[in-house]
Amino acid sequence: MPHRVTLLAGDGIGPEVAAAARAVVDATGVAIEWIERAAGRPAMERDGDPLPAAVLDAIRETGVALKGPVTTPIGTGYTSVNVRLRKALDLYASIRPVRSLPGVPSRYEGVDVVIVRENTEGLYSGLEHEVVPGVVETLKVFTESACTRIAEYAFMLARRDGRRKVSAAHKASIMKLTDGLFLACCRRVAARNPEIAYEEVVIDNLCMQLALDPAPFDVILLENLYGDIVSDLASGLVGGLGMVPGANIGVAAAVFEAVHGSAPDIAGKNLANPIALILSAALMLRHVGERDAAERIVAAVEDVLRDGRVRTRDLGGSAGTSDVRDAIVARLRGAVS
Ligand code: NAI
Repeated sequence: MPHRVTLLAGDGIGPEVAAAARAVVDATGVAIEWIERAAGRPAMERDGDPLPAAVLDAIRETGVALKGPVTTPIGTGYTSVNVRLRKALDLYASIRPVRSLPGVPSRYEGVDVVIVRENTEGLYSGLEHEVVPGVVETLKVFTESACTRIAEYAFMLARRDGRRKVSAAHKASIMKLTDGLFLACCRRVAARNPEIAYEEVVIDNLCMQLALDPAPFDVILLENLYGDIVSDLASGLVGGLGMVPGANIGVAAAVFEAVHGSAPDIAGKNLANPIALILSAALMLRHVGERDAAERIVAAVEDVLRDGRVRTRDLGGSAGTSDVRDAIVARLRGAVS
């Protein structure tokens, strides 16, 4: 029986990197029935909604999706598709493994941290209003249940993947109630997991420490906005946004996507680095139990990077998205030894 996977190409560079990721997954020989659905700009133009019900229905039905990025208008326009998707499917845990890869120019070697971000609450609750003209408010909403389950996920992941430490980031000195509740929940969960070391780091200090030396960090546990920002910062430690995969995990569904956005500046030019989405596809295969195929993809990506001849512009090369795809596919098919 093939695995059924919803494929959302998204917009901007999404269709280019999604096509590459799909080709790479297919080259592993794992049988996948791809259920393609439009989200983002193409869906807006066709259906008047960037996240039509058919997308949510397909993901609910298959339980798994691979997703390219989608554009969110700035300041005005429709609500972020990503925020809606994560809330509608209760994809509460955003997981971003940030790892140095061979041959990639970057400031540090041996970086290996996992970012665990709460994905449904905080300042992304979408509760904004104008109090009086010239005064606006955004509500930062935290609940004990959401803080507890993301902390439980971080400790479960640490145990499952043989990691030793969870660092919870906060600004509880200023946001005593919200970040204070987050910390209280993390501490309770930490107390139930004494075999995993636990520490608390103020968010601004965490950013400084990561930039100086990421080595002491292992699993980093953050609320929504801090997690969003620190994910991009951490991507910068290992070669940029084109390198870091991600997973949005819920109880009933999981959506796999890169950390990066739709990169309108390079869309449609065959310039995007597809590796972040290809590695996201490897996480997806691991999630559906195809561990061997997932490992083969990671090995093929590492091989291509180590070889160094086929690299996109963000990594200092001149290859196109399709060249990187072809090089990885060729290794998976054994055409290159
Ligand atoms: P971005 O991640 O799209 O781009 C930032 C910079 O990184 C750009 O210079 C871009 O060319 C480069 N870049 C990103 N991905 C790359 C790749 N794979 N290969 C080579 N270079 C790459 O962030 P930006 O510009 O802030 O956002 C653009 C749009 O994407 C916005 O509408 C934003 O809301 C949306 N977005 C969507 C996400 C998603 O669908 N998960 C996540 C983040 C942003």
